[in-house]
Amino acid sequence: MAVKYNHLFSEGKIGNLKLRNRIVMPPMGTNFANADGSVSQTLIDYYTERARGGVGLIIVEIVCVDSPVGKAITNQLCLDDDKYIGGFADLAESVHLEGAKIFVQLHHAGRQTTPDITEGIQPVCPSATHEGFLNVTPRELSNDEIEELVQKFVKAAVRAKMAGIDGVELHGAHGYLIGQFMSPHINKRTDQWGGSTERRMRFPLEIIRGIREKLGPNFPICFRLNADDFVEDGIDLEEAKKIAKILEDAGVDVLNVSVGIYEAMPKLLEPFHFEEGWRVYTAEAIKKAVNIPVIAVGVIRDPALADSIIAEGKADFVAIGRGLIADPEWPKKAYEGRDEEIRKCISCNTCIGLKVFAGQRMRCSVNPRVGYEWKYPYLPCACEKKKVVVIGGGPAGAYAAITAASRGHEVVLFEKENKIGGQLNISCLPPGKKKITWFTEWLEGELQRQKVTLRLGECATPEKVSALKPDVVVVATGAEPIVPNIPGIERAYLSWDVLKGKKNIPSGEEVVVIGGGLVGCETAHYLLDKGCKVTIVEMLDDIALDMEPIGRFDLLNTFVSKGVKMLTKSLVTAITPEAIQIVDAYKRVCEVPAKHVVLAVGQKPAGCDLAKALCDMGIPVITVGDARAVGKIVDAVLFGFDAGVKV
Ligand SMILES: Cc1cc2nc3c(=O)[nH]c(=O)nc-3n(C[C@H](O)[C@H](O)[C@H](O)COP(=O)(O)O)c2cc1C
Repeated sequence: MAVKYNHLFSEGKIGNLKLRNRIVMPPMGTNFANADGSVSQTLIDYYTERARGGVGLIIVEIVCVDSPVGKAITNQLCLDDDKYIGGFADLAESVHLEGAKIFVQLHHAGRQTTPDITEGIQPVCPSATHEGFLNVTPRELSNDEIEELVQKFVKAAVRAKMAGIDGVELHGAHGYLIGQFMSPHINKRTDQWGGSTERRMRFPLEIIRGIREKLGPNFPICFRLNADDFVEDGIDLEEAKKIAKILEDAGVDVLNVSVGIYEAMPKLLEPFHFEEGWRVYTAEAIKKAVNIPVIAVGVIRDPALADSIIAEGKADFVAIGRGLIADPEWPKKAYEGRDEEIRKCISCNTCIGLKVFAGQRMRCSVNPRVGYEWKYPYLPCACEKKKVVVIGGGPAGAYAAITAASRGHEVVLFEKENKIGGQLNISCLPPGKKKITWFTEWLEGELQRQKVTLRLGECATPEKVSALKPDVVVVATGAEPIVPNIPGIERAYLSWDVLKGKKNIPSGEEVVVIGGGLVGCETAHYLLDKGCKVTIVEMLDDIALDMEPIGRFDLLNTFVSKGVKMLTKSLVTAITPEAIQIVDAYKRVCEVPAKHVVLAVGQKPAGCDLAKALCDMGIPVITVGDARAVGKIVDAVLFGFDAGVKV
């Protein structure tokens, strides 16, 4: 078979280690480890599935070398004790059985953690410099403690090798402990550990020297470095090129080039609007400074782009991070030229922002099996072919239909609009959110590939549905906006109608958006982009509290810089011809001028009557998505998928 992407699928080499291709899974914390830091079966199944999908090298997520003070996430893997070796050996073996190689990322959080995670211990740092994103003031490390920490990294590397792991990555990026030593923004020491590039590099160099001493020249060492911290006085590209050369001279085998520290979080973990491959230039610049291989990363979603990065000599390997969470078969599908079948990550950051950072296990909006590889190990073919009717073609209904059809059932899907997608077709409309259309396109393609009969532009009625004699009906009728009963409400537009362009608000005019949750804020962003003067009124203490925190950080910065007025703890009591009336945070009744008023105060399940009518007819019904409970894409997809597995 002719391989479409022959650069991507050429053999790679790190030191003496051969890799089957140039695709790397970069480290990504999952919270799948057991609470004591040991490897869990959930974690093994998750990584094994990615190995089976064809990736060349898996770099396992942050592994703590000094628990609990060095932990950055609640359920973090640990290698600070021999008791962990067995679990890592199982993981390595399982990944090797699928033909991939495996490294682990050795990590200490330093100041980028909180006492909630470190079991009450004050975080440590080369200097007691305050951390702005988590709002943490760390304690300065003593010379003895630093020397001890060097040994902890070395011992963890030795344990990794004992477990059969093929190499280690030192986490020198993203503002964690090693990066804290390296960065002039954080490291203010004037002793042998700070003051010049050479002295700031002493900590990582001592670790590298220690690992080489114990494990010899052939054990691969990868170094994750920041090509740009994206903060004032931090490491910039020029400094990073110097650092890269120093690391090469110290015997590092490969450089994994990343960017950003927590204080510049949206650069490190890009929300929706970042362009594909936007930071490949950093890897390219580092590659020019050294002779060892370099890994490029950051919103690389498309195999053609990945292949071109290798072909044009910009990097030696490409790391596909969230892309492999979203579709573990990304490499296999790219190899077989089935690009359109790749379920691409849409950069919603649910995996990290709403899940891992919130102390929960990783989940994915477009891939319901993440973390559930054990629960849904394969899709059993249905024993008995059934007729399944799905009502509603949003993410829940479409996923249920695809899954049921892939198991051999005959599936008919009703969708009242002329297009699949439901609310996906609205949520892709605010600025920067176009990537959501990738998922809609994938759903459309998959419905076709699985031969689901589509009845688009058709409202399902109990009569129409029962006439099909279904064995089971999946109701996925979505949600409808809540309209509060306040005087003057008829003057307000629904946010959905504004986003869809059904209600046009001319540029430059004054708009008040009632409701500062995700939908209200994104509608405000849309109006801001059109040039409107926007005020958001929210009852709660803050706005966008239901939003993924990295995207939220980014959006609030935009609102502040562009002068959006945000009135929190404010209750709207009436809408008058030229204004809205509120009771503000100080219990004062006041008026806010409002030429236009937009409503985004939440949604409620729709289609309950239809579900009830079908039940009354004796037809088995499963209700999923917003019709079951209003939630996010991740909830809709998981419950839709599960229904498809169960029918
Ligand atoms: C859920 C999640 C967890 C992450 N955890 C780590 C980590 O443990 N170590 C690390 O160096 N980078 C981590 N990252 C950053 C990724 O390695 C990668 O650099 C980033 O996701 C950008 O690449 P992508 O657009 O291909 O996802 C994490 C990213 C995500 C989404």
